[in-house]
Amino acid sequence: MNAIVVVDKHWAIGCEGKLLFSLPTDMKRFRSLTIGGTVILGRKTLDTFPGGRPLPQRRNIVITHNVDFDREGCEVADSLSAALELTAGTPEDQLWVIGGGSIYTALLPKCRRVFLTMVDAAAEKADTFFPNLDKLPGWSIESASDPVEENGVTYRFIDYINTKL
Ligand SMILES: NC(=O)c1ccc[n+]([C@@H]2O[C@H](COP(=O)([O-])OP(=O)(O)OC[C@H]3O[C@@H](n4cnc5c(N)ncnc54)[C@H](OP(=O)(O)O)[C@@H]3O)[C@@H](O)[C@H]2O)c1
Repeated sequence: MNAIVVVDKHWAIGCEGKLLFSLPTDMKRFRSLTIGGTVILGRKTLDTFPGGRPLPQRRNIVITHNVDFDREGCEVADSLSAALELTAGTPEDQLWVIGGGSIYTALLPKCRRVFLTMVDAAAEKADTFFPNLDKLPGWSIESASDPVEENGVTYRFIDYINTKL
């Protein structure tokens, strides 16, 4: 499976339940990569989407401890292993871990690639982070894009590969 994430220069991803940046070109890339596939997300990240609704044109698997959780258009898993069971038979490159922090951290060892968008700025405040792949054994950079400038920030698309899988 893959993870896809936006980080600041200190690997921060969120603050008080919100994203740190608004990056339209990045959002278009996120959409085109994940559309038609399966996204795996934590319940808190689902609640950050407009109306708490799942992402359209994708199979949404939401992880929550709440066994009574029910949200239209979502498949619910009450554990990481239950989520993985739901993905049985789905091609690995069609599986996308889309956050948030707890789900990235838990599923990272199962990810073959991380499609990272790194913003060349430090968020003023952050409370949620992605693991620093430059410090984790087994991860190396496969490719890095030219810088994109948007909404007053510069960022790059950096693809990491897990050489242990
Ligand atoms: N920068 C990015 O690319 C990006 C992407 C996505 C999200 N984010 C940000 O990340 C933040 C949210 O991350 P987060 O870590 O607070 O929340 P999260 O990972 O989205 O969701 C956490 C919730 O998932 C459920 N959960 C987690 N592990 C579980 C397990 N092993 N078994 C069963 N349920 C489990 C629990 O739901 P229940 O409480 O319902 O039991 C838990 O409260 C927000 O600020 C969001 O904007 C950033």
